[in-house]
Amino acid sequence: MRVLVVGSGAREHALCWALAASPILGKLWCAPGNPGTASVAENIPIATLDTAAIVSFARANAVDLVVPGPEAPLVAGLADALLEAGIRVAGPLKAAARLEGEKSFTKEIAEAAGIPTARFARFDDPAAARAWCRRQGAPLVIKADGLAAGKGVVVARSIAEAEETIAEFMEAGRLGEAGRVVLVEECLTGPEVSLFVLSDGAHVVPLGAATDYKRAGEGDRGPNTGGMGAVAPALALTPVLAEAAMQRIVRPALAELAKRGTPFRGILFAGLMVTEEGPKLIEFNVRFGDPECQALLPLLASDLLAALLAACDGELGDFDLRWRTGASVAVVLAARGYPEAPAPEGELRGIERAALLPGVQLFHAATRRVENRLLPAGGRVLTVSATGFDLAEARSRAYAAVRTIDWPEGFSRPDIGGPSFP
Ligand code: AMP
Ligand code: GLY
Repeated sequence: MRVLVVGSGAREHALCWALAASPILGKLWCAPGNPGTASVAENIPIATLDTAAIVSFARANAVDLVVPGPEAPLVAGLADALLEAGIRVAGPLKAAARLEGEKSFTKEIAEAAGIPTARFARFDDPAAARAWCRRQGAPLVIKADGLAAGKGVVVARSIAEAEETIAEFMEAGRLGEAGRVVLVEECLTGPEVSLFVLSDGAHVVPLGAATDYKRAGEGDRGPNTGGMGAVAPALALTPVLAEAAMQRIVRPALAELAKRGTPFRGILFAGLMVTEEGPKLIEFNVRFGDPECQALLPLLASDLLAALLAACDGELGDFDLRWRTGASVAVVLAARGYPEAPAPEGELRGIERAALLPGVQLFHAATRRVENRLLPAGGRVLTVSATGFDLAEARSRAYAAVRTIDWPEGFSRPDIGGPSFP
């Protein structure tokens, strides 16, 4: 099989690493990739959003399967273009990628399928949004309807904060077009988990659940980030609750999409709040999470490539994945100043030694190689993943590797998988 992974983060390095282990892999490329993917795949200099270039590369090189990492190319129609060219793609068509591209579409699906989720209202008029907030009372969650790269959600603790957010999103245009329409939602409470499944449009196979650490600082303080660490399995989602989430949230959503003639093929990410009334849907994403992927894939014992092919070919009905027992912890190393103003400085030393520690895998994100030196090149620079017999072992292995990496200009959260574990 000739496979092309699209993206350049640690998630895509983890995808390449897992695919490279497949006995049926012939050739692996990554577009555009990073120094980490270069060790298991051939990087090609094509941007993730250059749909035309990706399709023509895939055609010219007889690619059998394209695996998109991030959502943006899917929302822009990469899967549509590839399928039109007769190339398999492990991700949804544009019509189903709306689940992530338009938050109100997810709400529409949830309503139609009776999926438990936060009560909400949608506004294109700021005055109406403010009036609704005042009637409901705080706390409330304000969300930009469009894609806002993780910056489009504010949990407002007071009405003043809600009104300020509405002004910034809808009037000041802080998020551009993405914030002109907002959803205002009831604030749910409870531990949050990321549940992943693989679907071929009709059948579904669980890919596990992980806990994402979204805030920059220890103890869940500081600004929201793309994710500073992840732990798998997600302890808050017991097997009974996971089954409830499959029955009440994932299966009904997939069935509703199929019924509308837009079946979901690929990896579906359900962001859930485990409330006292059971799991409720916060959002759907149409791809693997980053860093959840870097925690989950090291636990996968089966062939990822065979699973993705089965999803493309509608053959997940009789498919089963095997998972290693134990736990996995992924710690993100970021440049100081991330997420607001990352300053990628200094040099990462000790990478080779860290990678040799037991149970450890390093996944590159924003790194660059200059001669023999590895330099940071962005906000989230590296994910250090480790598996272990249990959470405590996985955690101590991951932090042993973090300590082995000498990079004073970077930081990581010291509490991933720790006792204050959500
Ligand atoms: P994201 O959409 O991934 O940028 O993250 C938004 C975050 O806001 C979620 O991960 C939750 O922590 C929080 N959030 C979103 N919707 C709600 C809600 N209805 N109630 C409480 N928290 C929410
Ligand atoms: N870690 C959350 C995400 O990938 O959206």
